[in-house]
Amino acid sequence: MNSYAIKVYGCQMNVYDAERLRTAMAKEGFSEVSLEEKPELVIFVTCSIREKAEQKVWSEIGRLDSQWRRKGAPKVAVIGCMAQRLGSKFMDRFKSVCLVAGPRNLGKVPEALSNIAKNEERVLLLDDPRELSDLDCPPLRRDNPWRAYITIAHGCDNFCTYCIVPFTRGRFRSRAPEEIFKEIDFLVADGVREIILLGQNVNSYGADFDNGYRFSNLLRDVASDERVDLVRFLTSHPKDFTEDIVDVMASNSKICPAINLPIQSGSDRILSLMNRGYTVEQYAKIVETIRNKLEEVAITSDLIVGFPGETEEDFNASVDALKRFRFDLVHTAAYSPREGTAGAKMKDQLSEEEKYRRLNIVNELQNKISYEINASLKGKKYKVLLDSLPPKGEGLLQGRTPTDKVVLVEGDPGLLGKFVEVSITEAEHWCLRGKLEKIIG
Ligand code: SAH
Ligand code: SF4
Ligand code: F3S
Repeated sequence: MNSYAIKVYGCQMNVYDAERLRTAMAKEGFSEVSLEEKPELVIFVTCSIREKAEQKVWSEIGRLDSQWRRKGAPKVAVIGCMAQRLGSKFMDRFKSVCLVAGPRNLGKVPEALSNIAKNEERVLLLDDPRELSDLDCPPLRRDNPWRAYITIAHGCDNFCTYCIVPFTRGRFRSRAPEEIFKEIDFLVADGVREIILLGQNVNSYGADFDNGYRFSNLLRDVASDERVDLVRFLTSHPKDFTEDIVDVMASNSKICPAINLPIQSGSDRILSLMNRGYTVEQYAKIVETIRNKLEEVAITSDLIVGFPGETEEDFNASVDALKRFRFDLVHTAAYSPREGTAGAKMKDQLSEEEKYRRLNIVNELQNKISYEINASLKGKKYKVLLDSLPPKGEGLLQGRTPTDKVVLVEGDPGLLGKFVEVSITEAEHWCLRGKLEKIIG
């Protein structure tokens, strides 16, 4: 067993974990190939956030398993959040599955796979959610050469009642600043210009240290590194958001003025049932502070519709919140009950039909708002790091404005990895189009 393919689902934390695993697998002597090249092993990095995300993986593995039964290949390894949640169920159901490992066991995966290659064994790695065997390996095998994610804190202790993450990613634990800086050393040496700090709740970074070193300190220290050109971060939890973060952002132009601040609902009653720890008015105060202190800032949000017991009135409050806050972009979702969470046991679960009716309403409204905001940017100029080729559109290059909006420009692929000045010419609800004005370097 030497060749493998990897399929990644879910959030940026999974992308980061997959990149580190790919780097470590190369060191162990494995070679990465595409699915079409008939790998001996397929690794799934999975997500449990909603039922649909899980169904996709479940059926993909089913398909590979029947192939394995006919041809003896490929074997399957399941890691990530679904692995932690469903554990041995994968092995019971699919004989091709040779490894199941939760996110906190990532560090043991490369060696386990080497052993499996030699001994034909099956390995289940699911420990106590407080334990952590992390992979000490920088993410050098990335799809994007110029931007890199770094997880700054593992797990989450917030237990929002809809959310599976505390069960799959385990207890909250901040990574030591030295470890993060060491990783940045590797990344800048590898050509990275933009760093994205990741945490389920970046605002609680350092809450488990006893030296008072918190997220705003880390943000300041990362941004003061001369070798780093841009710094972004996500996700900010409104319950723990503090003004010092905005102050650090205002004082350093390398920290992009883009904040993902999930509101989840516009109804105080539902926010309380969700165990979010803030009211709409408290949320509004944070938005006001951010918009007062940062000149041009984009605030994006997450919203769930159809939480158990969400009445028409509660739902309308969410619609009103979208109108009131006019977010740049909102990740909307229909509530999906997750087994083991408090929400799944609540009365008054809504029908799928009603949840999707509500989802359509908020999507339509938000697309309109996002479009209006983007259209108002026509004629503006931004400094943009061109960092990839868009999935569609020949001759186009893609980058992000400081406010984290995707912008597409015509240009030579030799410009990838360079900063350019772009003037905005057209807007869509999900992206901007622009003209290349000059190369900054
Ligand atoms: N830590 C982040 C979010 C992580 S999950 C935070 O606190 O906001 C990403 C998003 O998935 C959430 O913001 C939420 O909007 C959505 N989500 C999580 N659980 C969900 C569920 N059971 N049903 C529908 N959407 C869900
Ligand atoms: Fe889930 Fe809430 Fe933790 Fe975010 S803060 S990961 S929504 S439990
Ligand atoms: Fe999914 Fe786990 Fe991320 S459930 S959203 S992969 S933390």
